[in-house]
Amino acid sequence: MEIRKMLAEIGLGNPYKGFDSRGLKVDLQGWASEHHYFPTLIGMTKPRQIIEVGTWKGASAVNMARHALPIDPKATILCIDTWLGSNEVLWRDPTLRPMLMLENGYPSVYRQFMHNVISERLTDTIFPLPMTSISAGELLAAYNVTADLIYIDAAHGEYEVYGDLTHYWPLVRPGGIMFGDDYYTTWHGVIKAVNRFAYEHSLPLETNGGKWFMVKPS
Ligand SMILES: C[S@@+](CC[C@H](N)C(=O)[O-])C[C@H]1O[C@@H](n2cnc3c(N)ncnc32)[C@H](O)[C@@H]1O
Repeated sequence: MEIRKMLAEIGLGNPYKGFDSRGLKVDLQGWASEHHYFPTLIGMTKPRQIIEVGTWKGASAVNMARHALPIDPKATILCIDTWLGSNEVLWRDPTLRPMLMLENGYPSVYRQFMHNVISERLTDTIFPLPMTSISAGELLAAYNVTADLIYIDAAHGEYEVYGDLTHYWPLVRPGGIMFGDDYYTTWHGVIKAVNRFAYEHSLPLETNGGKWFMVKPS
């Protein structure tokens, strides 16, 4: 199913309508959101449908939109995130905690994401799905949503990453690509989960500069 149709069916067809941007400025802070894998893998898959698992303020989604739209002006990017932050370090480290943009004790990063997408004029390309990654994966499977390209960059613990890989791989169309961030020894959970998944599925694993990707056999 098309992402747009699925979103309309669950009442998320136009999430930007009436959004109050007051007090917000564009802030596209992200992590490795402009790696050369983005244009390369978009060029390889020519995606109509992209799923991003872990979006934060939208920097990587905006970057993917910039590369995908010249190839397919109808490209859609579904952004799955709780917008609550990736791990406990953001809460524990007082120098990082302000990144959560706490309002009455609750992160408000979603508002920054919305403002960024509106300011970048990408409201007809990028759509949020504010759920946990695994619940969203199950929802997409129930609606038979598939994607040409899926980017995994949500939680970074071994079991969380492995859970994302197992839920999102079935949604990649044959010949499509799943890729992800933080294949670094500092994120050993990511390395363990990605290696294990590639081994169990006999998939060639490509890595470069902290990113990884796997192509789904046609
Ligand atoms: C590293 S950030 C994403 C960065 C973004 N891709 C970029 O390049 O700017 C990870 C994001 O994953 C989200 N996240 C973490 N665990 C999640 C989960 N289980 N389900 C959904 N989102 C999750 C966090 O809220 C956070 O916004």
